Amino acid sequence: MATATLPESAQSADTFPINGTDYIEFYVGNAKQAAHFYRSAFGFDVVAYRGPETGVRDRASYLLQQDKVRLILTTPIRSEGPIADHIHKHGDGVRDIALWVDDARTAFKLAVERGAKPAQEPTVMKDEAGEIVIAAIHLYGDTIHSLVERKDYRGLFMPGFVPFSSPFQVKPVGLKYVDHCVGNVELGAMNKWVNFYEHVLGFVNILSFDDKTISTEYSALMSKVMSNGNGRIKFPINEPAAGKKKSQIDEYLEFYDGPGVQHIAIATDDIIKTVTDMKSRGVEFLKVPATYYDSVPERVGKIDEDIAPLRELGILVDRDDEGYLLQIFTKPVQDRPTVFYEIIQRKGAKSFGAGNFKALFEAIEREQALRGNL
Ligand code: FE2
Repeated sequence: MATATLPESAQSADTFPINGTDYIEFYVGNAKQAAHFYRSAFGFDVVAYRGPETGVRDRASYLLQQDKVRLILTTPIRSEGPIADHIHKHGDGVRDIALWVDDARTAFKLAVERGAKPAQEPTVMKDEAGEIVIAAIHLYGDTIHSLVERKDYRGLFMPGFVPFSSPFQVKPVGLKYVDHCVGNVELGAMNKWVNFYEHVLGFVNILSFDDKTISTEYSALMSKVMSNGNGRIKFPINEPAAGKKKSQIDEYLEFYDGPGVQHIAIATDDIIKTVTDMKSRGVEFLKVPATYYDSVPERVGKIDEDIAPLRELGILVDRDDEGYLLQIFTKPVQDRPTVFYEIIQRKGAKSFGAGNFKALFEAIEREQALRGNL
């Protein structure tokens, strides 16, 4: 599948410097139990906690960390309010992809001047370890981008959070950093959000996939990959395309009740080890037919890994001009068919596995059919 297209224009200066992803915050129905799932199954450590015991009256939040990946799981502790409303509408899902900036006030002002819808004015949070400045702008649906400035903070994470300790011994599975984070938006809305990333946050469109690249017998979708100035942050955006049946994006939009984050891809240096470990802890992955592997040597050429463990685990392989990549996708991690994870190991390749789209989407559609949603 070689129909990925290059961007129409390349941008040279970084007009909105972002250091990286600061954290990804989920709103969930029961953060205490979700935190245990991420500890036992995904190997995250709970490093900090904020809640009623630390002076926050309306919510409880757990900060999970594995290498450079930081997740916050937040739950409301009363029935009313925006967090409870978010969960009622969307189920467990991503509320905030927080971006780490040097100067949150300037970043917020610039973003709003360029057309971003403000979600939170710059707010200073202080404790004895210094201060954090945080502001936020709206993204698709009920999702936001917080802008986090932490240059004057020497504490654990953020004022309000206290260290969390537990006798539970967490064993990491080798997850390293967030490789990319994908959003699903409504039919016709993809270019609006591509423009938002270009004009507000100074991102560049580095790859585009049309509905001919990404189609199966039943459904199709379109996708554009946006990358920030320093290339560390990549946000692909999907929209559904007309097909014979309901696409996986349509299913997501129906059950999430609107646009939102579809999957978070996390990098590992040893995907065979990571996935073996996660599977043994009960993480469910999508499975492609064994025949997928018959064409792998011919399609991707020589790779360092043996095919047998890849086939056994269901790990996919793809190659581009710069190298190859190995990837696998979990099933949704909540009962609604919405958010899932990708585990990815890059061996030179900078692309997203377009050669796997067909096999992958057919695997997703088999799951959709089981749910009665195809
Ligand atoms: Fe992905």
